[in-house]
Amino acid sequence: MRKKILAANWKMNLLRNEALELYRQFSQFTDNQNVQIYSSALYLTELAQYNSLTIGAQNFYFENAGAFTGEISLNQLRSCNVNHVLIGHSERRQLFAETDEILRKKVDAAIENGFNLIFCCGEPLDIRQSENHVEYVVNQLELALFQVPSEKWDQIAIAYEPIWAIGTGMTATSEQAEEMHREIRTAISYKFGNELAEKVSILYGGSCNEKNASELFACENVDGGLIGGASLKSESFHEILKALYELH
Ligand code: PGA
Repeated sequence: MRKKILAANWKMNLLRNEALELYRQFSQFTDNQNVQIYSSALYLTELAQYNSLTIGAQNFYFENAGAFTGEISLNQLRSCNVNHVLIGHSERRQLFAETDEILRKKVDAAIENGFNLIFCCGEPLDIRQSENHVEYVVNQLELALFQVPSEKWDQIAIAYEPIWAIGTGMTATSEQAEEMHREIRTAISYKFGNELAEKVSILYGGSCNEKNASELFACENVDGGLIGGASLKSESFHEILKALYELH
């Protein structure tokens, strides 16, 4: 049975009090450790103290320490009781120029340091329109994730987030999501074998909300969600959570 993960990506939203309040509201309806919150790094220490939901960082640098002004290391995150990270979100790739090479280093550092990670992948609109989306996404995985040895894959979840669906209100259809999730699992299976592939949780992200969550989560290969906008409202997130656990 694969882990059903629901991750909230709060991005650069919420002031401190708002973040603490939203966390409090989430923890009123769940204490499931597979519910993960990726908040601004500023609030991680405080949120991690509550210890009921899983807290993760949206970003980090792959070196352990040193002259890297403005960056945060995995050691520092660990010292704040954080051991989950997001890697390869399309906003990091596009707005902050994170290349496959950088992402590969981040993945290796996270794995080496014993962190759990959600590796994000997904194609832009023109690639989808030219029907090269499967090849594009599998290539992203090959370049930055598939170097991880099979015995370390229990630290990994994958989030498929088509870029054209993020924050746009244009969700992938359940057929589009299922096709890509199945292809991702097949690619893992070719490389690492079916047994491992069947264990990896693959989340969908991109305008997933309380209205479309049930249909997306009903897909055989969709094991949860990475939720942006709809994770900023407690009621919406609660509905999405119910959709995930009622169906599976
Ligand atoms: P969205 O964002 O749900 O607002 O589309 C998802 C994400 O970027 O992780």
